[in-house]
Amino acid sequence: MKRLPHVLLFIIISLTATVKTEAQSNLNTMPHYFYPGAIWPDNNGVHINAHGGGILYRMGVYYWFGEHKIEGEKGNSAQVGIHCYSSKDLYNWKDEGIALKVSDDPKSDIAKGSIIERPKVVYNKKTQKYVMWFHLELLGKGYASALGGIAISDKVNGPYSYLKSFRANAGKMPFYPAGTAEEEKVNCADTLNKDNKFFCRDFSRGQMIRDMTIFADSDGKAYHVFSSEENNTLQIAELNDDYTGYTGKFVRVYIGHQTEAPALFKRNGKYYMLGSGCTGWAPNAARWFTADNIWGPWIFHGNPCQGPEAQITFKGQSTFVLPIEGKKNSFIFMADKWEPKNAVDGRYLWLPITFKGDDIQITWVDKWNLKVFDQ
Ligand code: DGJ
Repeated sequence: MKRLPHVLLFIIISLTATVKTEAQSNLNTMPHYFYPGAIWPDNNGVHINAHGGGILYRMGVYYWFGEHKIEGEKGNSAQVGIHCYSSKDLYNWKDEGIALKVSDDPKSDIAKGSIIERPKVVYNKKTQKYVMWFHLELLGKGYASALGGIAISDKVNGPYSYLKSFRANAGKMPFYPAGTAEEEKVNCADTLNKDNKFFCRDFSRGQMIRDMTIFADSDGKAYHVFSSEENNTLQIAELNDDYTGYTGKFVRVYIGHQTEAPALFKRNGKYYMLGSGCTGWAPNAARWFTADNIWGPWIFHGNPCQGPEAQITFKGQSTFVLPIEGKKNSFIFMADKWEPKNAVDGRYLWLPITFKGDDIQITWVDKWNLKVFDQ
């Protein structure tokens, strides 16, 4: 074998060294912290545009789906669609593009200018499809339609195809766990009962769906959790086997208290739910609940936030709770700090959830990373 001239060897060695140093310095300069409320640049240096979002973990990668907003107040409606980002470390996010595009046909359910909020994606093992659920308001109707919408895809990052939209569980009565007293059950003949007014009004047409999330349980079942009955209740509705509809089993939670922004997680077999009050885009106090069974009873525990601005959730509103893959008892509270006057400038407040026994706390930190979960 011929020997390489010294000069060539020198060039190869120096080139390898340069490439290595650059790779190392990239690693060193890549963020390894969360900065709640700050501009959060994606791989192109552009502030992440995925509001009211949720995260799906699939085969080593986190996928963040959220509302793509544009500048100004117009950005409060759907002008573009649902944006997807991917990440392996949760700090650095790659733009995967628009996973679900709005339609240019004004007659489409997902027409440009409609309202498409709080998308959540789940993977269905049986059909091997990714199923995106969202809160949908038809073009020009304000928040009166109160529909749930579904889009599906074979690929996690899309494109997703719009499937259908609907009200929930038309003609169905709630499920009552054994032992529920007769007077606690809905009786639409009793028109004096204010708590059931909107439920009964919408019984035939189907229940309203506004702020929402999807909770995928450890046994493969999934649930649609949404503000309903003019926001007077939350409903938890079981999804069918392919996650594109309901089984008809559902419960009503915290009747008469206007809970929005639901986000669920499970820890040591206990179900936790976070939510907010109902004050439009303005922040209010968060609230949390627990239950030993998804069907309840759900116990209200008040506000989990601590410290300055805890009464307004640090200016944010919950959207999702992310369990960290491979780290036991590690959950991130994800919230949106809305900017309704310039929607695209909305910020993300990600904060660690801390536990005291079964109780939770959320405390503000300017800067943090996943090591807090090792303590
Ligand atoms: C609060 C909800 O949580 C948001 O998703 C959005 O629907 C705004 N209200 C609209 O005012």
